Amino acid sequence: MNVSAKIANQLACAIWFTGLSGAGKSSTANALKHRLQIEGYNPCVLDGDDVRRGLCSDLGFSKEDRVENIRRVAEVTRLMVEVGLIVIVATISPYRRERTMAREVLAPNRFVEVFVDTPLDICETRDPKGLYAKARAGELADFTGVDAPYERPDSPDIHLKPTDGSPDACGRLIFNQLMSNGLI
Ligand code: ADX
Repeated sequence: MNVSAKIANQLACAIWFTGLSGAGKSSTANALKHRLQIEGYNPCVLDGDDVRRGLCSDLGFSKEDRVENIRRVAEVTRLMVEVGLIVIVATISPYRRERTMAREVLAPNRFVEVFVDTPLDICETRDPKGLYAKARAGELADFTGVDAPYERPDSPDIHLKPTDGSPDACGRLIFNQLMSNGLI
């Protein structure tokens, strides 16, 4: 099958990354996007930081606002999946209930939850945006993992740990799993 035929026939689905800030969601999501593109698919990434600059720029980080943030992301994802895209979502999505809601908004068999299970101490050491330092200094309230909760997934479809290797290695691992489960 040539590349455009593959895109026309691709099975659409949502691959939903959840995990703490600094866990590696965005890097792994982008590595997966790249892997899918190399293999001839047409993926796109919806990243929490991007979404919050536009579609959700009116929202903050209270529980209520995070619930609304995830609701909007899930609805946009549904629209994009309906037009045939492979949508890779990277948001903290800290609440189990909202992740379940996202799964229900999408067709359940077209939704893959990926838990990027990087422990808090590692995320905090990385602190790529300096936000953990600010949160610890009391300059940033309601920071996930510090003074706002993160509810770990009970049974994610894919469970990534730091020992699984680089974002590229994890991207390949997810790609192989999507293939072997017939999702793409
Ligand atoms: S979610 O909790 O509503 O799913 P989302 O993924 O959209 O969060 O946004 C998280 C990003 O916002 C983080 O990666 C970080 O850069 C930034 N951020 C700013 N304030 C906070 C906060 N209080 N808690 C978590 N992330 C925050």
